[in-house]
Amino acid sequence: MDPIRNPYAPGAGQRPPELAGRDRELAQFAVTLERVAAGRPERSMVLSGLRGVGKTVLLNALRGQAVTRAWGTGKVEARPDRSIRIPVAQAVHAAVREVSHRHRDPDRVDRVSGVLKSFALRTQQADRKGMRWSPPVDAVAVRGRADSGDLELDLVEMLTDVAALAGDLGVGVALFVDEMQDITVDELAALCGACHEISQQGAPLLVVGAGLPHLPVALAASKSYAERLFRYVSVDRLPRDMAERAWRVPAGTEGVTFEDDAIEELYALTDGYPYFVQAYGKVTWDAAVGSPISKADVAEAAPEAEAELAVGFFGARFDRATPAERDYMSSMAELGDGAVATAEIAQHLGRRPQSLSPARDGLIKKGLVFSGERGSVAFTVPHFGRFLRSR
Ligand SMILES: Nc1ncnc2c1ncn2[C@@H]1O[C@H](COP(=O)(O)OP(=O)(O)OP(=O)(O)O)[C@@H](O)[C@H]1O
Ligand SMILES: [Mg+2]
Repeated sequence: MDPIRNPYAPGAGQRPPELAGRDRELAQFAVTLERVAAGRPERSMVLSGLRGVGKTVLLNALRGQAVTRAWGTGKVEARPDRSIRIPVAQAVHAAVREVSHRHRDPDRVDRVSGVLKSFALRTQQADRKGMRWSPPVDAVAVRGRADSGDLELDLVEMLTDVAALAGDLGVGVALFVDEMQDITVDELAALCGACHEISQQGAPLLVVGAGLPHLPVALAASKSYAERLFRYVSVDRLPRDMAERAWRVPAGTEGVTFEDDAIEELYALTDGYPYFVQAYGKVTWDAAVGSPISKADVAEAAPEAEAELAVGFFGARFDRATPAERDYMSSMAELGDGAVATAEIAQHLGRRPQSLSPARDGLIKKGLVFSGERGSVAFTVPHFGRFLRSR
């Protein structure tokens, strides 16, 4: 069918034509926003799940809810080995801009901008690598606030002031942190500590995180009270009825339907993983002769969809690994699809467990593998074991 009208959207952070199966999270977050703006105690949200399940898309949708309520919002994408100080300053700067033009007291706005500037200027030279952003030039740095060099303390001071500014307008500030598992332990502890302190003051600030499945474990390791700070939401593959919505609703807006066994086949092929839902939906649409889309159309499209995934979704990730890391992953794939004991991998490769630590750590850093439990690892990418076995 006409590829120009194809509604499906496979891609990183690409907003799907129908955000299926996330109503509960959206409803919960709406309540959270109202409660926080009213100064009531509330836990923030942390989304975790495998690659391509829709964490970024959901995070963006939650941000959209905050924007609709006229909150100040900003977003950070954490990176391994990089301090969050400048990215956080950038995100908070965006949030301040969103609220400041409605604020009646320009002196208060200037002071908060000055605190933000002193927070950003405290960056160590080493942390500045590749960071082009510099704090707003028109603000005068406020000495002695948010510039101690202790990230937790500085976050508390800076975020308290920014939240108060939004509070003057009856709204709050929400900071969205994607790839949160990439924040170093020390900085994660500082961020949790700051959230903890600020929530005790009842200030209208929310930090919403998203990351790989081991993010809750990483948070708990950084601060023992992290569990009481966040509501952990696991973002997962779509159940059958929701995957069906994700295919049927967008097609429906184009006047196109699916035969039931076509949906059946699509679900069997994708397991309801959102990225695969979009990828197979897109290729199937292009391959289909017309409406209704049939099981034969799906069968025709499947090899192409698989080939596209092999290059783009799986291949691009596999290529980032070193030869030693590839051997490690191949071994994992041969041992099964769930979590695999690291001792078993060592045995399978005929190596001593310690000698494999660099490969394992490298894969974790590259976000290809995670360790949810001590002594075991699993792929962050759904169907990755299957892909490796088919090579
Ligand atoms: N609820 C949903 N319904 C239908 N499609 C979805 C849904 N959520 C996400 N998608 C689609 O899945 C794909 C992946 O989404 P997204 O980039 O948000 O995943 P992610 O979990 O952030 O992945 P990664 O860990 O690689 O960053 C996108 O093409 C998006 O359109
Ligand atoms: Mg993402």
